[in-house]
Amino acid sequence: LNSSNFTEKLLRWYPLHRRDLPWRASRDPYIIWLSEIILQQTRVAQGLPYFHAFVSRFPRIEDLAAAPEEEILRTWQGLGYYSRARNLHACAREIVRERGGKFPENYQSLLNLKGVGPYTAAAIASFAYKEPVAVVDGNVYRVLARYFGISADIASHAGKKEFQALADKLISSERPDEYNQAIMEFGALQCVPTNPDCGNCPLSPDCQAKNRELVGSLPHKEKK
Ligand code: ADE
Repeated sequence: LNSSNFTEKLLRWYPLHRRDLPWRASRDPYIIWLSEIILQQTRVAQGLPYFHAFVSRFPRIEDLAAAPEEEILRTWQGLGYYSRARNLHACAREIVRERGGKFPENYQSLLNLKGVGPYTAAAIASFAYKEPVAVVDGNVYRVLARYFGISADIASHAGKKEFQALADKLISSERPDEYNQAIMEFGALQCVPTNPDCGNCPLSPDCQAKNRELVGSLPHKEKK
């Protein structure tokens, strides 16, 4: 497995290509959590104005907790999946009421928050606390499936476990936050779903999918 090479190349690619996104300037778990909930089923371009609106109306978790639900839903208007907004409110109130406003401080306890699954918990834990837990989402499945030539079904339980295990091996222990941002960004900008520009990709010399002409068929996803 060519794994250290993968991580090193990814970490070299990232500073040259990263977008300057506002939540990347923060290590405040509240701000990162807000951005990740907004981005869960939403593209960056669509989420950006909502992120700015939430941060300016509710700069601290206490502000979100104290706001009436209708104000939060109004600020969320147009984003869809309104359970995300209701979960935001419920979590903020719980954190303020039961933890004195102090955000959970590790991956395991982040998982207890409503609306926070493994992906979002890993994002918050790595970005805010530099905990070395790997994010695995659609972008990550695609990048890993292609580079390592993995044909496991990403819709199956076994497939998901295989990818998570690989991702947890690949993450940089010194720079877990940058590694997670980098692989997401690489999937979003370079290793895109259709017609990726492999001729211009620093990872393509060691990319299994590229070398075996499987770019169009990986990742593999069985229809349910
Ligand atoms: N999508 C989900 N989380 C993201 C992040 N932190 N940066 C860019 N896109 C994302």
